[in-house]
Amino acid sequence: MKPNSLNRRELFQWVAAGAAALHLPPRAWAQARLSSTPFTLGVASGSPTHDSVVLWTRLMQPALQVPTSPGISVRWELADDDKFIRIAQSGQSLALAALAYSVHVEVQGLAPDRWYFYRFMVGDAVSATGRTRTFPAPGAAVAGMRLAYASCQRWEHGFYSAYRHMAQENLDLVMFLGDYIYEYPRAFNAVRTPPGGWVLSLDDYRQRYATYKQDVDLQAMHAACPWLVTWDDHEVQNDYAGLTVGENGPEVADFVTRRSAAYQAFYEHMPVRAAVLTRAVAGMASGAEMRIYNRSQYGQLASFTMLDARQYKSAQVCTRDGKRGSSTVNSATCAEWNNPARTMLGADQERWLDAAWGSTQGKSTAWNIIGQQSLIGQRNWKAGPEQILWNDGWDGYSAARTRLTDSARKHSLANLVVLGGDVHENWVGPIKADYSQLSSTAVGVEFCGTSITSRSGGNGKLAETLAGNPHFVFADAERKGYGVVEITPGQIKTTLRVVSDVTRQDASIETLAEFSVASGRPVVQRI
Ligand SMILES: [Fe+2]
Repeated sequence: MKPNSLNRRELFQWVAAGAAALHLPPRAWAQARLSSTPFTLGVASGSPTHDSVVLWTRLMQPALQVPTSPGISVRWELADDDKFIRIAQSGQSLALAALAYSVHVEVQGLAPDRWYFYRFMVGDAVSATGRTRTFPAPGAAVAGMRLAYASCQRWEHGFYSAYRHMAQENLDLVMFLGDYIYEYPRAFNAVRTPPGGWVLSLDDYRQRYATYKQDVDLQAMHAACPWLVTWDDHEVQNDYAGLTVGENGPEVADFVTRRSAAYQAFYEHMPVRAAVLTRAVAGMASGAEMRIYNRSQYGQLASFTMLDARQYKSAQVCTRDGKRGSSTVNSATCAEWNNPARTMLGADQERWLDAAWGSTQGKSTAWNIIGQQSLIGQRNWKAGPEQILWNDGWDGYSAARTRLTDSARKHSLANLVVLGGDVHENWVGPIKADYSQLSSTAVGVEFCGTSITSRSGGNGKLAETLAGNPHFVFADAERKGYGVVEITPGQIKTTLRVVSDVTRQDASIETLAEFSVASGRPVVQRI
């Protein structure tokens, strides 16, 4: 029987039932018989706060020979040391059949600013050991921290050697900014091809995540430190927007059902909290919504805000030839371009972000680090007064972008640093209040990162595009990799790291460029 995706209420009921069942004697739940290790997808941790973190794994068929039971009992341990001698906490969790035997343990009551080790056990099988950490307490003074930002890891386009090198970067956190999986069946000149065809059903999404998560380099990076994650379009379908279907691949009868299946599979495979399942947004179809935007505090040093610029966004407008999805558009001939009713984040998330920024007013000069999907800065593809812009990114939602920068200005937001992905290229520059005026105020800075593997157009016309968009201080459209941000109270330093050849598993790593931003001054300085 094909599994049907669950609606939001059912998902939450399963999670609640799983938690309640833990109070039953262990034998009430089936102990799986194992033909081999069920931990082939590795382990992960994420969504850290100063006293809590989510531990994740998923038991994999066919290692499981499951008796008739809705779930399998999984033991977990969290320790101060990697030999698991000083156990800080341990317990049991249920890998529910309804959630693809995924396990999400929300460990509470941990010490702040502390590294821990964790592992899972079923029968005689023991998972790999993961390393995770809590954030410093909200008021604590912090000397510094290091995070990496990454996005867009299309399987067919390359190997994940970037993650093998990232695991050596001594990081406290990874921000993943979207396109964790791609839904395509194959690619031209593929380096490797995932099993299965187009990804359309819950089964398909689960299989695609499982394929990606079998990669040892990706597993190593998940095991190295906690992740904060958001999604973009390819976790569902290329260029979808809100509840508007995207383009590419077979038509489905009901896009809401497809999106729900994709969101459920995202939950099943990411170290996120069950709370993402419980918050309804007015006007959204039941089961179609998952609240993944959030904000967390890293001592006095920084706040980390993860945005969702895909789930609530208005459909792209004026797509070429009357098609769906994205294209470049001449904004002068597109009547809908500046309609203020069009949104990137949705009204609820916009209000939430404005309130969060309002709450920091005058209180703090900490770094406001935003992880979101795409490039904020305008890229006009045509020299001269005519504007040719990409209609899927922030350029296609200029009124929404102005609301975002107006909110930052209204609250005199200090030290805004926006990290992005989506474009598969590195773009660096100030965030301008008005991109038509080069002298316009900078309200923050942005580092939009290249992809882990996904292809881009190359540097052929890059010099021309940069000359036409002089607010950017740097761009590179060829190299793949990730960025490392070292945050200290006085400055941030961003290093763009790129692999030698994304089509080689043994690729080496090098630094493409380095930048600094001083506290209190939204100016990007190349080092
Ligand atoms: Fe992408």
